[in-house]
Amino acid sequence: MEIKLVQLQKHGDERGRLVALEDQRNVPFPIRRVYYLFETKSDIRRGFHAHRELKQLAIVVRGSCRFHLDDGKEKIDLLLDNPAQGLLLPPMLWHEMYDFSEDCVLMVLADGHYDESDYIRGYDEFVELAKQ
Ligand code: TYD
Repeated sequence: MEIKLVQLQKHGDERGRLVALEDQRNVPFPIRRVYYLFETKSDIRRGFHAHRELKQLAIVVRGSCRFHLDDGKEKIDLLLDNPAQGLLLPPMLWHEMYDFSEDCVLMVLADGHYDESDYIRGYDEFVELAKQ
């Protein structure tokens, strides 16, 4: 499975650091929605879905968490702990997030508005659809 991590340019000086996200530039899709997770619990896993069409870019802007990714053939776990790195979540990628640090803020950019019909929330259904 090819995991795409986008390296985001850091503009740092003595005042601190800044990362800019621009659609179709360092974010490879039109940004139509931004949401973020915070006050997550270290022992509670979430996600447990794939999307039919939605593309997303996940950035841990503070703290760290782990992602479990599954394309129906391979499974990979990875740690996100760098605010200058984005993880691309293409359609048809099952994902779960876990091991949130206490201070974790996970921001996600998406190319579509929230649409429950785009979610595949059953793992068995996902595996069947991923075979097609
Ligand atoms: P949920 O899909 O359960 O989150 P996760 O995949 O991280 O476990 O979403 C939690 C709630 O928030 C659920 O009621 C749907 C709602 N929600 C929105 O209203 N808009 C959004 O953009 C997202 C991602 C979720």
